[in-house]
Amino acid sequence: MSASLLKIDNLRTYFYSRSKRAFIRSVDGVSLAINRGETLGIVGESGCGKSVTALSVMGLITATPGVITGRIDFANGTLHRNLLDGLDQSVRLSEEEGRIMDVVKDSGAWQRQSDRLQRGVRGGEIAMIFQNPKASMNPFEPVGAQIVEAVRLHTEHTGKKEAEQRALHWLERVRIDSPRLRFHNHPYGLSGGMCQRAMIAMALAAEPSLLIADEPTTGLDATIQSKIVDLLAELKAEIGITTLLISHDMGVIGRLADRVAVMYGGRVVEEGGAQQVLAGGEGNHPYTRALIASIPGAAEVRQKSYLQAIEGDVLDTINIPAGCRFYERCNRVTEAVRERCADCEPQLFDAGSGQRVRCWLFAP
Ligand SMILES: Nc1ncnc2c1ncn2[C@@H]1O[C@H](COP(=O)(O)OP(=O)(O)OP(=O)(O)O)[C@@H](O)[C@H]1O
Ligand code: SF4
Ligand SMILES: [Mg+2]
Repeated sequence: MSASLLKIDNLRTYFYSRSKRAFIRSVDGVSLAINRGETLGIVGESGCGKSVTALSVMGLITATPGVITGRIDFANGTLHRNLLDGLDQSVRLSEEEGRIMDVVKDSGAWQRQSDRLQRGVRGGEIAMIFQNPKASMNPFEPVGAQIVEAVRLHTEHTGKKEAEQRALHWLERVRIDSPRLRFHNHPYGLSGGMCQRAMIAMALAAEPSLLIADEPTTGLDATIQSKIVDLLAELKAEIGITTLLISHDMGVIGRLADRVAVMYGGRVVEEGGAQQVLAGGEGNHPYTRALIASIPGAAEVRQKSYLQAIEGDVLDTINIPAGCRFYERCNRVTEAVRERCADCEPQLFDAGSGQRVRCWLFAP
């Protein structure tokens, strides 16, 4: 049995911008593997393609053309499935020099096949929690009923009473205050923090083998944020569920992730063990170093000084340069690599101990 529960291979998810008459290459050749029992963190600035990667796995990209190529292999027990299997039959691409110029897609056929592939996977084997729990829960139904539904739909506890007990168990498990009372509350009757706990309970109630958490603490105030991170850390220790954790908050990633992938401009630019990647030193990608340098120190936070942002603009993924995608903003270019940086995109080079870095400075 392979150690990877989920393996994403050369995923490309594009959107068509009518105003610019061009493709936004939100995810542009991403390959990632999540091993059983581990938490893989994805970090990167806003717009680098983190959420689109997660939504592509869940089959939740509805805008066209959406996911266009790649493989997403999910393997658990007897279920082995490429979640993009056969979808290429509904898409015709025309490429020139490796650049996609046109996409013709039969969206109806594509969606039907994607829904077939996602049966039992989305919401069951793979559950997702989002940044805004209130928007992701049904406002017209009490929280408990929604969790009961997840239990009955996705686990062997199909009886009503039994499912209610399980739902209550999950509300207790996420340490929501007064779980019996919350069971009967509607989502709007809960605070942001409580609602995020209810959402986590609902995701776990399906007993998924993979949990995708997209910015689970963003939008909550600071003290509640840290309580949710504590909860996720406890659940990780107790349940050991395999997790894909997306966050732009290095602190959250540092606490929870075993391995980290750093994304920039629709690509993974570095991946490896959390400690190595988050070291932010000589052994890291210049972008990772800049990201880590931009984390405010405790003293700065106390003084409320501004976050030292990375200089330059985030790459627009419409006009992708020929060379390294980070070239315009990189302050580590040496004369030895300058020409290659400008002209040719680096591959992911092995930097030892399983760490890989997409930078010419790491070329053997
Ligand atoms: N439905 C869509 N139609 C067009 N463009 C989209 C769509 N969804 C995402 N994008 C674009 O794709 C790019 C990647 O978006 P994505 O949401 O994955 O970023 P992100 O890394 O999750 O950022 P954030 O940290 O802000 O959540 C962005 O440029 C975004 O504007
Ligand atoms: S390849 Fe060159 S431009 Fe890109 S990150 Fe490395 S040094 Fe900087
Ligand atoms: Mg996002």
